[in-house]
Amino acid sequence: MMDSFIHFYITTIFLSVFFLINTQSDPLSTLESTIISHGGQVLRITDSQYKAAATLHNRAIQTWPELILRPATHDDVLLALSTLSSLRIPTRIMGGRHSYGGYCSHQGIVLDSALLKDLKIDWETETITMDAGVIWDEVYRVLNGTEYVIMGGLCPTVGVVGFTLGGGYNAMYSRSYGFASDNVLKFKVALYNGSVVTASSEINPDLYWALRGGGGGNFGYVLQMTQKIHRINETHMPNGQFTFLNITWINVDIKIALNNWLTFLKEVADNDIRISFNVIVAVNGESNFLMMYCSFNGPSIEIDTVFNLWLLKDPKPTFNSMFNYTQNDISRVLAIPFPVVNREHVLSAMAINITEAMLDVILDFQPNSTADIGSWTELIYLHSATKDKNTAYAFPDISFDIAPGVSWRNPDNDPYAIDMSEKFLQKLIDAAAPTKSIVGAYLNYIDPYLPNWQTMYYRHHWDRLREIQTKWDPTWYFRFPQGIPPYNQQSNAYKLPNKNSMVIISSFIILVWFY
Ligand SMILES: Cc1cc2nc3c(=O)[nH]c(=O)nc-3n(C[C@H](O)[C@H](O)[C@H](O)COP(=O)(O)OP(=O)(O)OC[C@H]3O[C@@H](n4cnc5c(N)ncnc54)[C@H](O)[C@@H]3O)c2cc1C
Ligand SMILES: *[C@@H]1O[C@H](CO)[C@@H](O)[C@H](O)[C@H]1NC(C)=O
Ligand SMILES: *[C@@H]1O[C@H](CO)[C@@H](O)[C@H](O)[C@H]1NC(C)=O
Ligand SMILES: *[C@@H]1O[C@H](CO)[C@@H](O)[C@H](O)[C@H]1NC(C)=O
Ligand SMILES: *[C@@H]1O[C@H](CO)[C@@H](O)[C@H](O)[C@H]1NC(C)=O
Ligand SMILES: *[C@@H]1O[C@H](CO)[C@@H](O)[C@H](O)[C@H]1NC(C)=O
Ligand SMILES: *[C@@H]1O[C@H](CO)[C@@H](O)[C@H](O)[C@H]1NC(C)=O
Ligand SMILES: *[C@@H]1O[C@H](CO)[C@@H](O)[C@H](O)[C@H]1NC(C)=O
Repeated sequence: MMDSFIHFYITTIFLSVFFLINTQSDPLSTLESTIISHGGQVLRITDSQYKAAATLHNRAIQTWPELILRPATHDDVLLALSTLSSLRIPTRIMGGRHSYGGYCSHQGIVLDSALLKDLKIDWETETITMDAGVIWDEVYRVLNGTEYVIMGGLCPTVGVVGFTLGGGYNAMYSRSYGFASDNVLKFKVALYNGSVVTASSEINPDLYWALRGGGGGNFGYVLQMTQKIHRINETHMPNGQFTFLNITWINVDIKIALNNWLTFLKEVADNDIRISFNVIVAVNGESNFLMMYCSFNGPSIEIDTVFNLWLLKDPKPTFNSMFNYTQNDISRVLAIPFPVVNREHVLSAMAINITEAMLDVILDFQPNSTADIGSWTELIYLHSATKDKNTAYAFPDISFDIAPGVSWRNPDNDPYAIDMSEKFLQKLIDAAAPTKSIVGAYLNYIDPYLPNWQTMYYRHHWDRLREIQTKWDPTWYFRFPQGIPPYNQQSNAYKLPNKNSMVIISSFIILVWFY
């Protein structure tokens, strides 16, 4: 009787001491209070702002993190990284939350850049310096009405850093001015251990090369970057306006319409980088839809001479309208609400050209009649884009990003929708095989189901990227399913903490020893 009382008494003391040690000397609590004291936020599922902060663009891949850290200063990002990496707690870097694979989030701790919003324009050097949390809409607003454009995305809610690290094309301007990654002059990068480095053509050129197209979430946390802006004065229009055409064919023979377009590209547009296209093809049973967004980065008096011969061919467009838009106007009219209501799955095939066999596959991409799934194929025309060839982006030779997509309402994960789109991609690749027309996949349309993603995204750059990762993130702290692994990586070096089980296990070991 007495004996068991003593045992109970000692057990209680042990447990209390362990809980006390565990809560008092917790560097994570110190990190949290430092972040808050500098105007940052720490969000858990019980906080009212948590849901909006954790919601991803694509609901199909939504995960709910245990903790969202939102530092308000660069120094607090460094502190967060040194604290978390020395505790061996993995983290994910969260930006604009538009990753189709959801790799900006996970069930553990997320380091979110949402409060890092600094943005400065230098008109003298024609550059803009942006913090990690800036989204394109914020940049377009400050440039609106000036003569300048920047190589951002058409969707205004995409994050500037995530976009740029994956290459980042602007479907209206990249033929004239290159990709976002070509336009970066300098990155400020936080390494996994909280050290900070600059990457530019002069300082750490290997990291500079890798960050321009090597993909978000690898190498380090980009705190800030400086990009070139471009004066679009060749349009002879005021306030940075340019001609935007919206040409649509509905329920006609769109195979003929698409072939007419491909002929126009070969005869005219391939040799005129002022012309850009973003095309959407959708077929559903008997009905079909072909919509082309086109921009012309030249004087509007030339529009008729450039486009009319093509547009007079049969089948003629069902609708054809022309607008004078700024970059900000265009992102507003094309804006997709964030977060989207539908779940979606988007893929990509980087193509040298579109052959007849590939067209047939594209025109056959539709769900069976019972499935409640929408499908489309986007064709982004990038022929002879003004590219810097010395970056990690591996596709200076392509003419199109062919990006099929599906969307559905429920459930979160629709195996039929995923299967149908992945099979479509495979059919497209097979159709392109005899002509070697498809050479990879676009990293910014990251696809968690893509086989051979290493060579599909990176081609011949894979080994060099691994070497660079080995130098800058040797223990693979910044890891995610399609991340670039360093050589000799220590697997399981980082684990999600489970404080309670640690206390229970250590108490149990001591109690066993005591008895
Ligand atoms: C509607 C829509 C339209 C799109 N249009 C285009 C387009 O026109 N052209 C184009 O090229 N792409 C386009 N994309 C793809 C888009 O560029 C990528 O999804 C991009 O990765 C999104 O970046 P994010 O910061 O918004 O997303 P996030 O999901 O937050 O981040 C994407 C990846 O980058 C990492 N990351 C984020 N911030 C940092 C940082 N500061 N340092 C290091 N890593 C970081 C994340 O960990 C994650 O792995 C579009 C996507 C959507 C959903
Ligand atoms: C952007 O600038 C254009 C041209 O000056 C103007 O017509 C438009 O209203 C502006 N948009 C916004 C949102 O201010
Ligand atoms: C456009 O601006 C550049 C310099 O930014 C200048 O060299 C060029 O002459 C300008 N062109 C027109 C048509 O104004
Ligand atoms: C383009 O035209 C189509 C068909 O008329 C229309 O549905 C769509 O809203 C238009 N888009 C823009 C951005 O003008
Ligand atoms: C667009 O601008 C051009 C050149 O300034 C002008 O001639 C044309 O009428 C404008 N078009 C529209 C639709 O406003
Ligand atoms: C497409 O490109 C491939 C590879 O460059 C080439 O062999 C083929 O002839 C091209 N086909 C067409 C229709 O342009
Ligand atoms: C058609 O779609 C339904 C609903 O998604 C699916 O259950 C069924 O297997 C599909 N049928 C075929 C033949 O693919
Ligand atoms: C952080 O890591 C980098 C790259 O491995 C290394 O060069 C640097 O010395 C490290 N900094 C600290 C403070 O350990």
